[in-house]
Amino acid sequence: MTKTKRLFTIVATGAVALSLAACSTATTSGTGSTTAAIADCNVGISMPTRSLERWINDGEGLKTKLEGAGCTVDLQYADNKTDQQISQIQNQVAGGAKILVVAAIDGKVLAPALADAKKQDATVIAYDRLINGTADVDYYATFDNYKVGQLQGQFIEKELGLKDGKGPFNLEPFAGSPDDNNAKFFFSGAWDVLLPYVTSGQLVVPSGKAPKTNDAWTTIGIQGWASDKAQAEMDNRLSSFYGNGAKVNVVLSPNDSLAVGIEASLKSAGYTAGTDYPIITGQDADKANVKAILAGTQSMTVWKDTRTLGAQVFTMIQSIAAGTTVEVNDTKTYDNGKKVVPSYLLAPEVVTKDLVQTKLIDSGFIKASDVGL
Ligand code: BGC
Repeated sequence: MTKTKRLFTIVATGAVALSLAACSTATTSGTGSTTAAIADCNVGISMPTRSLERWINDGEGLKTKLEGAGCTVDLQYADNKTDQQISQIQNQVAGGAKILVVAAIDGKVLAPALADAKKQDATVIAYDRLINGTADVDYYATFDNYKVGQLQGQFIEKELGLKDGKGPFNLEPFAGSPDDNNAKFFFSGAWDVLLPYVTSGQLVVPSGKAPKTNDAWTTIGIQGWASDKAQAEMDNRLSSFYGNGAKVNVVLSPNDSLAVGIEASLKSAGYTAGTDYPIITGQDADKANVKAILAGTQSMTVWKDTRTLGAQVFTMIQSIAAGTTVEVNDTKTYDNGKKVVPSYLLAPEVVTKDLVQTKLIDSGFIKASDVGL
């Protein structure tokens, strides 16, 4: 039985519980598919920033789906400012939100705002990033963040032939924003693959910015995932540690926004695609980075199809509204300091130049014309 049919059946048998009830009309969503309308469905969506393509897609995609099911949706972006995000969530609570979907800027500062949400029995879904230090988060939907880093590490391992003992190669590792709970998972996934090669000497880090343990990742974290900060950091490393013709062979970049800055730095230092250009990783399949992959100035991106994340959260909301069991597939990994948050993890995948067409364009994630094809 499909979830939608189950939703109707439950309504028909009167088994709807909790503060929300599903009603028995159907409506056509923005994508043209017919979905069960969700009654009393007031959803607040809080996204970190409009400066990254992925969050725009995430927010707009979920809003369209929910509105297609008759929900009232307030979608806010907080310009990467924690205070702004807190007051936006407070406003959503004041506006009667019964479900909050939050991609936290700083996962550690939202507890008081969520406590207010709980006073009106709202259900809180942490979106993509875990919310820490509060029991008032009910579910977490994300991609497997450790796997994202692992795919980046394994890509580097394979490209350089590290398993076959090749090396030494000059590596410059970067990590994400210290306030983002995901960043440590990305780094751990990659570093569990790469650190043994640093220890063996097959990978050398001329800048010395090689964390000795996974937990030391914040020492190389780039605040706010900012491209310009990553660029400045790479400029420093190149000018201070790469004199006398020494070259960077590989850069571990945890995502595409950092890769943009690192690539700008490499370009101004004279690195050229196809000759001395290093391997460089990424994440998100942002259009600018897909163009870079096609041009040979970025080696890969870890693609997280944000449409599937939105669909999963939509399914969660349908279940919450119907009072049925919310489907999760991980109840061990994401301990937020107060509870292990029941999570649904989706699978990320590697996209290289030869996969741009089949993975990204054929699936409709991006248009060929967006990336100059
Ligand atoms: C997300 C990434 C994104 C990064 C910067 C992370 O929490 O999982 O997809 O690149 O934030 O916005």
